[in-house]
Amino acid sequence: MKTTNQFTKPITTVINSKNNLEIGGCDLVDLAKNYGTPLYVIDEKSLRTICQEYKNAFREYPKTNFMYASKALCTSALSKIISDEGFGFDVVSGGEIYTLKNAGINMKNVLFNGSNKTFEELEMAVQYDIGRISVDNFYELELLNDLTIKYSKNVNILLRITPGIECHTHEYIQTGHSDSKFGFDLTQIDDAVNFIKNNCKKLILKGLHAHIGSQIFETQVYYDEVKILINELTNIKNKYGISVDEINIGGGLGVKYTEDDNPPSIFEISNTIISSIKDCCKELNTDYPMIYLEPGRSIISTAGVTLYTVGSQKQVPNGRKYIAVDGGMADNPRPSMYQAKYHVEVANNVNRTNSEVVTVAGRYCESGDILVKDVDLPMLEKNDILCFFNTGAYNYSMSSNYNRTAKPAMVLANSGKTDIIIKRETFDDIIRNDVIPNRLR
Ligand code: LLP
Repeated sequence: MKTTNQFTKPITTVINSKNNLEIGGCDLVDLAKNYGTPLYVIDEKSLRTICQEYKNAFREYPKTNFMYASKALCTSALSKIISDEGFGFDVVSGGEIYTLKNAGINMKNVLFNGSNKTFEELEMAVQYDIGRISVDNFYELELLNDLTIKYSKNVNILLRITPGIECHTHEYIQTGHSDSKFGFDLTQIDDAVNFIKNNCKKLILKGLHAHIGSQIFETQVYYDEVKILINELTNIKNKYGISVDEINIGGGLGVKYTEDDNPPSIFEISNTIISSIKDCCKELNTDYPMIYLEPGRSIISTAGVTLYTVGSQKQVPNGRKYIAVDGGMADNPRPSMYQAKYHVEVANNVNRTNSEVVTVAGRYCESGDILVKDVDLPMLEKNDILCFFNTGAYNYSMSSNYNRTAKPAMVLANSGKTDIIIKRETFDDIIRNDVIPNRLR
């Protein structure tokens, strides 16, 4: 059975009687008219469905904790929905912690990751009693130890390790290979455990964490990763007599941006992970561990689309035809950063047949600001609405104000209704932090 990460579009996508695309029961042309473009739209049903698919896929393994990776897209309203679906959160910054705290999320269900957490962020985590902190390096062990003494509190930690696994994804989003900036090398685990044992009375080591990369299409890498985590966990138990029984497998499951992408289903991933646990625990004669999963992209990507309005067009003599839209690399830096590919369709009068190959260009002053190259689209006119699919993850969360443009709004669509969940920025937002010193006035 297909799971939501294996579709290029939100599961509610239909063509309505006006010949427009509809998502979450809402006509995308109406949304563009009412809220302006660029506009991020999130389909609540796709988001909730994928959360439920994760829970179903791991039903057989009740010792599973789902921690949504907030870095993919963190907003107060979405946090409420994801928490309502029974997920906790992986966070990587004070800003993400603050967002969740402010949305009323229980901090016990939060796990703090990152390779260079600041003292202030760690202090915030200790003050808020965050459930787990995944410690990345010796520097952090020392900082955190000082904080447990200052606050006289026990803090539950995992150690982030680099399992030495290479997966076939873009170089910038590989993380589990040996030459990585993240985590303890396997050869440093002993030193880290000794340091904790000898110096950190209030740091409670609960287990190990790894994350092997993002937009992963393979399953075997998860089998191997789990095996390494359980092996290392068992070594710690046997060598130091510490009762560690948790492994955090990270995130990384891919999504289907275009027809060429073939990510595994969540069920394939859960089968792989669970069989690796069973095989490994049998071989080592050890108990099944508690597991954490940190999916980000596979939870939110497919639920999101971005709407743009078509503006100018340029036909290069004997060359490409460029169609310019009113957004680009500031609301979606992924094509220029990772050569990421997206599926795009016209959202109004969708019965027009695709009749030309065009390149959709962003509005920003960079030649590299191309949203998608050489795609089949109908003959487009100004004010047509284009819908880019699979923009829920790492679009808004990586957006910027480049060229001093205001960030788009985000709406949540469900059963024909929409709610604004991120307001469109204004020019006043753009100059909010500008200061003109008196001597220049
Ligand atoms: N856990 C850890 C420790 C991570 O570093 C990440 C992602 C995740 C979980 C979630 O991975 P996901 O399930 O979303 O693949 N900006 C890049 C992606 C960077 C991912 C960084 N870490 C992109 O747009 O492709």
